[in-house]
Amino acid sequence: MDQVNDSMITEFVLLGLAQSLEMQFFLFLFFFFFYVGIILGNIFIVFTVITDSHLHSPLYVLLANLSLIDLGLSSSTVPRIIFDLFTEYKVISFHNCMIQMFFIHVMGGVEMVLLIAMAYDRYTAICKPLHYLTIMNYKTCIILVISAWVIGVIHAVSQFVFVIKLPFCGPNNVESFYCDFPRVIKLACMNTYRLEFVVTANSGFISMGTFFFLIVSYIFILATVRQHSSKDLSKAFFTLSAHITVVVLFFAPCMFLYVWPFPTKSLDKFFAIVDFVVTPVLNPVIYTLRNKDMKLAMRRLSLWVINSREVS
Ligand SMILES: *[C@@H]1O[C@H](CO)[C@@H](O)[C@H](O)[C@H]1NC(C)=O
Repeated sequence: MDQVNDSMITEFVLLGLAQSLEMQFFLFLFFFFFYVGIILGNIFIVFTVITDSHLHSPLYVLLANLSLIDLGLSSSTVPRIIFDLFTEYKVISFHNCMIQMFFIHVMGGVEMVLLIAMAYDRYTAICKPLHYLTIMNYKTCIILVISAWVIGVIHAVSQFVFVIKLPFCGPNNVESFYCDFPRVIKLACMNTYRLEFVVTANSGFISMGTFFFLIVSYIFILATVRQHSSKDLSKAFFTLSAHITVVVLFFAPCMFLYVWPFPTKSLDKFFAIVDFVVTPVLNPVIYTLRNKDMKLAMRRLSLWVINSREVS
């Protein structure tokens, strides 16, 4: 037993994102500004929704929860990526690698369920407007958010329990710039064929199924709006297109990273960056710049800031 433990690896080596100094510098600026944008934008949404009573509707409460998850999702990878850009040997301890995988999947799972909840909210508002207030009450919101967390944790744990028990005895080069199940499993010194299937099914097929379900739902909602009037259609299309954009940008990378059987390093990088950096910054952009309620809330907030300055 001791012999086995001696050869167990205690750290992994991650892949670098860029070789040349110019590219490192460019990526540093890119990640840095996006991450600052993610933090400020999402905290702004959470803060406005909590403080502004005009925004205490299910859609915005769910949106604020989504912002919180986006913050968590990018915080589980981006700071580490920025730090790693300028270190030569990108070493991550076994524990941190496991923690990173676990967090990514908890957050990813919660985000998936929240996107379904937001679609359900729009479905009720547009297809069952008379029952909207009774269906989407505060209790429903709480239930949706709690189930999102429960499902997210189950989703992560159900893969984690297998991976944590795998024997790793080297080599320890992860074929990626962050730790995630598919690439780490490959390093185990045993046959992981069945486990790889568990991960593909649990992360890949579920995101694929959810993606098609959501797209069909949104098409159905749009078709319903169309039966009513053309004025409603353009307004609803505006809101719904924002949701659809987020859904596509979140799920396309998931499907690629977990289902696509021929991993390509450059595409891997691209899609992971979309999920950790682009999607999280997109919510604040879409919802604050294109949304009337949020713009009004921003105006109220700035008036409040100006007034309180004049008073003091
Ligand atoms: C998340 O949703 C819950 C339940 O509806 C709500 O009470 C909470 O305020 C939301 N979180 C944020 C940050 O808005």
